[in-house]
Amino acid sequence: MYKNILFENTNGIANLTINRPDKLNALNIETIEEIKVAFQSIYDDPLIHGVIVTGAGEKAFVAGADISEIAELSELNGRKFAENGQEVFAMIENCHKPVIALVNGFALGGGCELAMACHMRIAISNAKFGQPEVNLGILPGYGGTQRLTHLIGKAKSFEISMTGDMIDAPLAQELGLVNYVYETADEGRAKCEKILNKIASKAPLAVGMVIDCINAVYKEDEDGYQTEANSFANCCKTDDFKEGTAAFLEKRKPDFKGE
Ligand code: COA
Repeated sequence: MYKNILFENTNGIANLTINRPDKLNALNIETIEEIKVAFQSIYDDPLIHGVIVTGAGEKAFVAGADISEIAELSELNGRKFAENGQEVFAMIENCHKPVIALVNGFALGGGCELAMACHMRIAISNAKFGQPEVNLGILPGYGGTQRLTHLIGKAKSFEISMTGDMIDAPLAQELGLVNYVYETADEGRAKCEKILNKIASKAPLAVGMVIDCINAVYKEDEDGYQTEANSFANCCKTDDFKEGTAAFLEKRKPDFKGE
């Protein structure tokens, strides 16, 4: 079904691997479409509770948009290209299931943007992040100017996006771009699974609403406090809320149904 990604559900965790290692997992249009289709199925599949996004091979997470494709873009197609990528990455960011990027090498341009659209990032020590688009006469088009600034602040975002310099995993962690750094991909994956399995034991509707409320911080047309109050009220209507509070009072573990 997929040509450029690997996609499998392992015990409730969707593993989405960008699989073009000979091109350092560069994102061509077809790959972006496949990510969209995969996320649609993540949205729809009740058996999936969390997602790990990574790159095939040992060298790269994703080395950016496929330069052989973008070299031909006209003004009109450039706009469509950016808007389409932004839409797919917004789908990742707004997903009600936690999404972690396991960054195993170069995360440049669209690769850094893909990682930043995920809710958390766990880096392997060889990871390198950057927005080198200015070297090509363009700028980030998949939300990079916005998300990088949200994550690390204006001064560093200016520096990274205007110099095109790469930053390594320890610096990325220091800046708040990544949550954790591990030596090996196996250790990084184990940490991703541990976080996702822990979240899977919580009330799923509440988890989804946490995602909406935190994302609302960065939406200028939305009052995040109002979103939070509405979400809180919505949680109070759920069976999971009754179950969570009852379980606490009865000194037992809650059994959440996502209802
Ligand atoms: N788009 C298309 N192909 C890419 C690519 C990209 N973003 N990044 C790497 N590749 C391809 C290379 O063309 C090469 O293909 P080839 O073997 O058919 O020639 C292959 O992946 C390996 O890359 P190579 O450049 O030989 O590896 P390297 O170790 O010397 O350098 C990088 C690694 C990441 C520093 C370098 O590939 C690079 O700068 N890539 C582009 C990064 C970028 O500008 N991204 C933003 C795009 S908008």
